[in-house]
Amino acid sequence: MRIIAFSNQKGGVAKTTSSYAMAVGLARRGKKILVVDADPQENLSMTAGIDLNEIDPDPEDIEKLTEEQREYFEKNVPAKLFEVMCGDKDINKAIIPIEENLDLIVGGIDLASADMTFNSLGRERLIKEAFSKIKKEYDYCIFDCSPALGVVLMNILTVADEVVIPLEPGAYSLQGLSRLYKFIDQIHDFTNDKVKVAGLLVTKVRNTANSKIWIGDIEDKAQLLGTKVFKSKIRLNVSVEEAQTMKMNLFEYSSGSSAARDYDDFIDEFLEEEE
Ligand SMILES: Nc1ncnc2c1ncn2[C@@H]1O[C@H](COP(=O)(O)OP(=O)(O)OP(=O)(O)O)[C@@H](O)[C@H]1O
Ligand SMILES: [Mg+2]
Repeated sequence: MRIIAFSNQKGGVAKTTSSYAMAVGLARRGKKILVVDADPQENLSMTAGIDLNEIDPDPEDIEKLTEEQREYFEKNVPAKLFEVMCGDKDINKAIIPIEENLDLIVGGIDLASADMTFNSLGRERLIKEAFSKIKKEYDYCIFDCSPALGVVLMNILTVADEVVIPLEPGAYSLQGLSRLYKFIDQIHDFTNDKVKVAGLLVTKVRNTANSKIWIGDIEDKAQLLGTKVFKSKIRLNVSVEEAQTMKMNLFEYSSGSSAARDYDDFIDEFLEEEE
């Protein structure tokens, strides 16, 4: 199983959109995929049609349950990654089938407080240990990361093979990139010497003169960092938000849209390079 993390500490650069599109696109190519929504915002789970009121309810609502209801909840409702990291739940009980070849793990809102919860020795290996116990076979696991450079990202990068960094062209698109690189370098030195940056993925591209200048800046920066920019760029396209509103994946909503075609190209490019 190859593990790919979509990460950037900048918000709104299409980490979630790209990780879900890649997961669905790979599943539709016949690959067995596990996608992990490791962001407490749970946007990916929502887009995938998960009923979070049922799967990840408010602790207050759980307290209100009768003993019988709580027993049913414990037994039948999938576990969250946070609970797995706490050592309370089996990772195999966190896996939710979404569509053919595609399973999902919900991170849980509690991941928002992970930096306070996980503070003992070995805290960066909790996900890696849990993943060693997954029984089902997958070709790829895709992590949608939150923008935080904290213990959850530390865990993800400790188990990951590759990091894809989505970037939106703009005056500030490179802000914080050096810090993310430093973070990945530290993981490389201390917990996972196989992790590497697969490349920068340019997203939400507008057809303007400024956009071309900004993409040029991204390409220069990539060269400085010794990494590449994927040739396939993802255009800004209303279908992305429309699909999310409809709780449909982009390919199901509009496979002919420019963004869906761009993501298809990106996946092909990614697979070609892997070979
Ligand atoms: N190609 C695109 N065209 C149009 N809108 C897009 C595109 N990609 C993403 N968006 C929109 O941009 C917003 C941010 O995207 P997304 O949630 O994927 O970013 P993110 O990096 O995961 O954000 P966060 O840092 O909050 O997790 C969303 O509203 C999404 O619908
Ligand atoms: Mg996101």
